[in-house]
Amino acid sequence: MERVRRAVDRIRREGAPAPEWAVVLGTGLGALGDEIDVEATVPYGAIPDFPPATVEEHEGRLLLGSIGGRSVAAMSGRYHRYEGHTLGEVTFPIRVLRELGATTLVTSGAAGGMEPLWERGDLVLISDHINLMGDNPLVGPNVEEQGPRFPDMSEAYHAGLRRRAREAAVQMGVQVREGVYAGVTGPNLETPAEYRMLRTLGADLVGMSTVPEVIVARHAGMRVLGTAVVTDMCLPDDLEPVEVEDVIRVAGEAAPTLSALVRRVMESEGDE
Ligand code: HPA
Repeated sequence: MERVRRAVDRIRREGAPAPEWAVVLGTGLGALGDEIDVEATVPYGAIPDFPPATVEEHEGRLLLGSIGGRSVAAMSGRYHRYEGHTLGEVTFPIRVLRELGATTLVTSGAAGGMEPLWERGDLVLISDHINLMGDNPLVGPNVEEQGPRFPDMSEAYHAGLRRRAREAAVQMGVQVREGVYAGVTGPNLETPAEYRMLRTLGADLVGMSTVPEVIVARHAGMRVLGTAVVTDMCLPDDLEPVEVEDVIRVAGEAAPTLSALVRRVMESEGDE
């Protein structure tokens, strides 16, 4: 908590309003940040205990501002397990954003699609997840002040937020999918046998992020809206090689629609 508070103190020095919403901008989805009326930008390197960002396509800065009158803190760039960070490091910013005041977390990310009827470029609302990272960010002594030792995960992804996202999609005339996200460490993509296994386990999507952040957000009592863009189709009997450039491009093409959707969900707060 001391480390969290030190980071919070540094961010508060920017003088931006306390965020109600926290947003994680995933691979290729930085355009979500364009929706924000930015009041302050803090490079991760300036925040105590934020690990240095190690992946080039991620910018590594915290954007503070508002969207449609709601205060927001957005992570432009996130930390991944495959970079060598511990899950504690990967999720440290979530602790910080919670302590800053955020009570809702929106995540986004690129993911492989295993539901055969889906297509590359589809937007997905995550309905549930399977943690296959072989690790958990909550391992270790529990800080009671942050959350319970054995947090409930019966509704990790908030059904009300998901319903509002579906309604927003209808209003916008865009299609959204809904499915289960399997979180893996990567960095390699999966073999056909692994995709077959993941599908058998009940997953519709697979990706290398989201799950640790959501576990910590739920531990801290935050509501979560999880989103993903299907950047490649992962059908074991019809698998094509994936280039990371394609993943980033497809995510980037979907980003404006996803941004507009998230903005609408935020604007509809209090309408229900
Ligand atoms: N597997 C894991 N992570 C991913 C994939 C995938 O196929 N596509 C995008 N992120």
